Amino acid sequence: MDGYSDSAFRRVCKLVNPSILTYTEFTSADGIHYNAEKVKRRLQFDASERPILAQVFGKNLATFETAAKVCTDMGFTGIDLNMGCPSKKVVKSEHGVALRKKPDLAYKVIETVARATNLPVSVKTRLGWDNADGLIEFCQGAEAAGADMICIHARTYKVPYRVPAHFDPVYEMKRHVGIPILGNGGIISLQDGLNKLGNLDGFLIGQATFGNPWVFSETGKPPRLQDRLSVMRSHSDWLIESKGEAVGCREIRKHLLSYIKGFEGAKIFRSRLSQVASLAEVMVILDELSTLDFIIDSSIEDAPVELEDTSECATCE
Ligand SMILES: Cc1cc2nc3c(=O)[nH]c(=O)nc-3n(C[C@H](O)[C@H](O)[C@H](O)COP(=O)(O)O)c2cc1C
Repeated sequence: MDGYSDSAFRRVCKLVNPSILTYTEFTSADGIHYNAEKVKRRLQFDASERPILAQVFGKNLATFETAAKVCTDMGFTGIDLNMGCPSKKVVKSEHGVALRKKPDLAYKVIETVARATNLPVSVKTRLGWDNADGLIEFCQGAEAAGADMICIHARTYKVPYRVPAHFDPVYEMKRHVGIPILGNGGIISLQDGLNKLGNLDGFLIGQATFGNPWVFSETGKPPRLQDRLSVMRSHSDWLIESKGEAVGCREIRKHLLSYIKGFEGAKIFRSRLSQVASLAEVMVILDELSTLDFIIDSSIEDAPVELEDTSECATCE
C-alpha cells in the first residue's frame, strides 16, 4: 500500500506472522525503465519479507518489459500488475484501474511481463468500473494472457472505501477460471478473512494493518500498550535506517500515532510523536511510554484512523 507497506512495515508484519505473502507499494514501470533512483528505492526489500511480490503499474509495454527484468534480477518471488488503483493522478495517466477500460491493452501488459520473466505474474484489480458485469470475462482474458493469480478488491472503481466490499461476484468469477484467486476489501482480522474466504484461495488485508501488524496474528492487537512497544521500536529503527532521519522521521510519525490510538492516557504523547525528528527522540518517548500503564478505550480505538497522508496516490480514494 502506497505510503505504508514499505520494507520496514513489511518486516514488522513478517515479525508478527512469518507465513504471510507481502507486496511492495505500487511502483511505476516507467520510473523503473528510466532508472529513477527514487522509484527503484521503493523496490528494496529484506530477505525476511519473502515471499514478496513487486507491484508495478503503468501502460507502456516497453517499460513493463524492463520492469519485469529488473524485478526478476532483484530476486522477487513474483510480479504483480496493478490494475486497480483509482487515484485521480493514476487514472488520468490511464494507469491502474483505467486499464479495465482497455482490456486488450491490459492483456498485452500481462503477456509482455509473462514473456519477460520466469517468475509468476499476478494481477490486482477491482470488481469493475461501475459494476461487476465484466469481471469473469476480464479474469478469463487475464488468465489466457498468462496471469498466474488474480486478487480482486471487491469494490468497483466508482464506490468509496467506506462502502462495504461485495465478495459474491468474486466467488462467482472463481468458478470460471483455473488460477488462484484472492479476495480483498474491508477484512479486519484473520478470522474475518477466513469467514469471507468461501471458495477463494486467500485474502489480502489492507487498511486494517495501519498501526496493527498484529492483524496477521490469531490473537490480534495486544491490549496493553507496553506489549506493542517492541514492534514500534523495530518499525522505527528499520524505517529510519532505510530512509534516513529526515524522511524516515516524517513517515514514522503517522505509524506511531496509529499504534497508540485508543490509549486515552497517551494523548499527551501524541503531539510529541507527531513531531519526532530523530531516532533517538523516538526511543526516548517509547521508553517513557514503557513506564506507564495505559487503559485502552476501544471506542477511540475502533474509530476510523486519521491519516497524515504521505502516500503518492492520495489515499487511493
Ligand atoms: C493509502 C492507501 C494506499 C494504497 N496503495 C495501494 C497500492 O500501492 N497498491 C494496491 O494494489 N492497492 C493499494 N491500495 C488499495 C489496498 O491495497 C486495498 O485494495 C484497499 O484498501 C481495500 O482493502 P482494505 O479494505 O483491506 O484496505 C491502497 C489503499 C490505501 C488506502
